Amino acid sequence: MSRSRFFAAECFQPLCRQGRILLLVASFCVCAIAADAAELERGDCGKCHSEKVRVLTVAGGPHATEVGCLDCHPQHPPRSGTAFRACDECHQSRPHYEIGGCRHCHTDPHQPLVSLRDPLKPMRLECLSCHPEVGRQMNENPSRHGELYCTRCHSRHKEVSTCLDCHEPHLANQTNPDCGTCHPTHAPLRIVPAGHVPSRFCQVCHAQAARDLAATKTNHGGINCLYCHQGPHRSIPDCQTCHGLPHAPSIHRQHRGCLNCHGGAHHLISNR
Ligand code: HEC
Ligand code: HEC
Ligand code: HEC
Ligand code: HEC
Ligand code: HEC
Ligand code: HEC
Ligand code: HEC
Ligand code: HEC
Ligand code: HEC
Ligand code: HEC
Ligand code: HEC
Ligand code: HEC
Repeated sequence: MSRSRFFAAECFQPLCRQGRILLLVASFCVCAIAADAAELERGDCGKCHSEKVRVLTVAGGPHATEVGCLDCHPQHPPRSGTAFRACDECHQSRPHYEIGGCRHCHTDPHQPLVSLRDPLKPMRLECLSCHPEVGRQMNENPSRHGELYCTRCHSRHKEVSTCLDCHEPHLANQTNPDCGTCHPTHAPLRIVPAGHVPSRFCQVCHAQAARDLAATKTNHGGINCLYCHQGPHRSIPDCQTCHGLPHAPSIHRQHRGCLNCHGGAHHLISNR
């Protein structure tokens, strides 16, 4: 490309963009932009678009190494109607590539990951294209959390808000990790308490059981609620799971229920 054409392009660039004016001034405007892409080589682009080359080199990733300017800009504008190739010409057959609106999130194709904008609009399907397991969990365990947009709780990618941002705890000084011992985040109604859950966490809602247990003189008194109430919330254990049939068969034949003599599980009566 000659130096003078180069120069002219810079000078008349605003004019060249307007087709009609271009006609009028055609005699002066030997416009570089009108050159065929075929004439421009990969190495040429940087002569006029050095900033783009810099950005791509620093943060383009595979868009710099595996793809070249000409792969995305097959014809040099403004001669061509399309200045660039659409994302889905190269990115296909993954759920994530079906969601469209690529540039809503990847705002600059020359640095597609660095420019990833944190979502400003409510989103759900877009997230599920890469996190299908979360969707499955929500479908299998319906709750009001499943009706919220993901971005209600994840306002930036990979960031999470905490339960206490939106809810009061059952008990003062319960912490966020405490919530997780009973409520899985994406399936908060699938309550299977696990790990260290102090009895006072149950006591908030089951005052009577806790009072009875505190009052009994028997060895049930010192036992943690979860030791007996294992598994999903509301499950009730059987005395025999832990004690079998401890008395003479005649006694058990005569009395179907242990509680005929032992009062109750929490307010246990025992003469031992
Ligand atoms: C001789 C200088 C020159 C060279 C070399 C050059 N361009 Fe351009 N290019 C321009 C000018 C001038 C414009 C219009 C600038 C503007 O409006 O910002 C332009 C515009 C563009 C545009 C934007 C079109 C639009 O619609 O906004 C793209 C994309 C582009 N060039 C890609 C390339 C690629 C790829 C190469 C290498 C194959 C290249 N250019 C080489 C001068 C050049
Ligand atoms: C992965 C595809 C891809 C590659 C590779 C790519 N571009 Fe682009 N480029 C685009 C897209 C898409 C746009 C449209 C951006 C817009 O509309 O803001 C664009 C816009 C441009 C523009 C005009 C808009 C602006 O931001 O000024 C220029 C100039 C440009 N590219 C130059 C280059 C050069 C030079 C290279 C190689 C060093 C290159 N591009 C590599 C996809 C690509
Ligand atoms: C000419 C082909 C082509 C076009 C057009 C294209 N890409 Fe790519 N892109 C690639 C290739 C090849 C890779 C590397 C392999 C892969 O990750 O699929 C890549 C990788 C990426 C990456 C991962 C970058 C990284 O650092 O790992 C993102 C994000 C991306 N492309 C987004 C886009 C977006 C958004 C568009 C449209 C604006 C687009 N691409 C257009 C070919 C293309
Ligand atoms: C809702 C926002 C959003 C939209 C819309 C979006 N992406 Fe992404 N994209 C992401 C996020 C988030 C990542 C993961 C970044 C990371 O790994 O940190 C990503 C990663 C990628 C990657 C890198 C490969 C990978 O699996 O990590 C490619 C390629 C890509 N997107 C292409 C596209 C294309 C093509 C489109 C349009 C069909 C698109 N994206 C639309 C948010 C989006
Ligand atoms: C293109 C695929 C892609 C898209 C789209 C995407 N993510 Fe991700 N996301 C990833 C990858 C990859 C990771 C990193 C996983 C890892 O480190 O194990 C990640 C990590 C996360 C994490 C942190 C995981 C952890 O273990 O710390 C959260 C939370 C998250 N994404 C939520 C979202 C939300 C919400 C959206 C929608 C706004 C979304 N993601 C869109 C690919 C994606
Ligand atoms: C009610 C708030 C809330 C909603 C709604 C929500 N999340 Fe989360 N998410 C969290 C919290 C809190 C964590 C971190 C605690 C954890 O690891 O369980 C998390 C963790 C994650 C993780 C990483 C750990 C994991 O479980 O894989 C991903 C990925 C994720 N969320 C994606 C999503 C997606 C996708 C959606 C929408 C379908 C979504 N989230 C909706 C609060 C929420
Ligand atoms: C961004 C706010 C937000 C965050 C963060 C959040 N929630 Fe929620 N949660 C809600 C909303 C909204 C509802 C629907 C009921 C309502 O309007 O109060 C809800 C409902 C619930 C329900 C009842 C579900 C139902 O279907 O009835 C439980 C249990 C729950 N949340 C526990 C948690 C736990 C545990 C955490 C932390 C892992 C958490 N939430 C984090 C907003 C949030
Ligand atoms: C010891 C287990 C346990 C812990 C720890 C726990 N929860 Fe709960 N939570 C429950 C049970 C059980 C329910 C009632 C479910 C039902 O009605 O069947 C519930 C109900 C809820 C509800 C539904 C609305 C309501 O109040 O009725 C919200 C919201 C909630 N919990 C938030 C939290 C938060 C936030 C934390 C952490 C500070 C937390 N929970 C800690 C067991 C627990
Ligand atoms: C030694 C084992 C054991 C311990 C410890 C225990 N429970 Fe129970 N719980 C049982 C058994 C067995 C039943 C069923 C007995 C019955 O039918 O009266 C039961 C019944 C219940 C019931 C339903 C009937 C009722 O009395 O309201 C609730 C609620 C309950 N337990 C809560 C708790 C709480 C809360 C704690 C801890 C403060 C706790 N339990 C500690 C064994 C135990
Ligand atoms: C947020 C309040 C809340 C918390 C915390 C809570 N529960 Fe419950 N629990 C309930 C509700 C509500 C019911 C259903 C009440 C009913 O049916 O009478 C219930 C029912 C039960 C039942 C079955 C009662 C029956 O009569 O069938 C058991 C057993 C039980 N809970 C044990 C526990 C244990 C053990 C903990 C601690 C790990 C706990 N709960 C924590 C609210 C709670
Ligand atoms: C999850 C196991 C478990 C369940 C269920 C359970 N117990 Fe116990 N029980 C214990 C343990 C542990 C002790 C204390 C160790 C001991 O004294 O042998 C105990 C002690 C006792 C004692 C002797 C208490 C004393 O101090 O004299 C009696 C009587 C008893 N249980 C009756 C029952 C009856 C009746 C039920 C059903 C309502 C029941 N248990 C349910 C675990 C359990
Ligand atoms: C007819 C009344 C009666 C019935 C029914 C009964 N018990 Fe007892 N149980 C007693 C008496 C009285 C004692 C204390 C005397 C003793 O030491 O054997 C006792 C003691 C126990 C002890 C403590 C004994 C030890 O060796 O530590 C356990 C555990 C126990 N019972 C469990 C059960 C279970 C489980 C059932 C139901 C399957 C049951 N009992 C039914 C009257 C009964």
